Amino acid sequence: METKLTPFIAIEGMDGSGKTTLVRRLREAFLSSSDHRYQFTREPGGTPAGETIRNVLLDGSMSAKADGTTQLLGFFYARAHHVKAIRAWREEGLTVITDRFDASTLAYQIFAQTESAAERKALGSFFWMLREKVIAPEDAPTLYLYLDLHPEVARARRAADSSQEQNHYDTRPIDFYDRQHNGYETFLIKIAIAGTSKIHRIDATKSPDEIYEEARRVILEHMVSSRDL
Ligand code: TYD
Repeated sequence: METKLTPFIAIEGMDGSGKTTLVRRLREAFLSSSDHRYQFTREPGGTPAGETIRNVLLDGSMSAKADGTTQLLGFFYARAHHVKAIRAWREEGLTVITDRFDASTLAYQIFAQTESAAERKALGSFFWMLREKVIAPEDAPTLYLYLDLHPEVARARRAADSSQEQNHYDTRPIDFYDRQHNGYETFLIKIAIAGTSKIHRIDATKSPDEIYEEARRVILEHMVSSRDL
């Protein structure tokens, strides 16, 4: 009998949504749990090749020289390595939780970073094509946990938080955050229609404690329901 793959959870959200704090708290709590084994990972990155590419992708001076198609290919090159690693972790029985995955690419590279509707459309088609090639249906997240934040709140929070390491995707005009938000919404609608992954939205204006409690509960429920199916 074929063994069922363990859950694979992608945590997604705009900068300023509290994602970093949430992932840190989940990691601390779950890695000390004795009931299940977890693998925490991130994108871009998650593998030696992916982490090397991350340095290139997040370096403003290098990515400024790359057009939209090149950047998209960079994220999917790193992701292709990551997908293989995730599959291996799941086959070992680990529940995988990633800080960002493919929804971020649609939000950032396709919606936020393109200059025109025509470019967005062309690059958007390329995104879905690459996604189909790189992520087989059984390798897609079983759950997307999305920290939902109004774009204006995201920008204000980001601007007020000078302690955060800034990369070249940060400190953009409000329009950038609007487009990013639209990208996430478009992604989630498409996934909801396809019915291939579960989706849970968390209102990111809640307190860090409330966000953590809700995320923890949803992940544990998801793990139980995945086992029962
Ligand atoms: P990081 O410092 O880890 O930011 P965060 O804590 O917000 O996740 O940097 C990751 C950056 O990479 C973040 O600004 C979003 C960006 N990114 C993309 O542009 N496309 C992608 O597909 C992914 C996964 C991330």
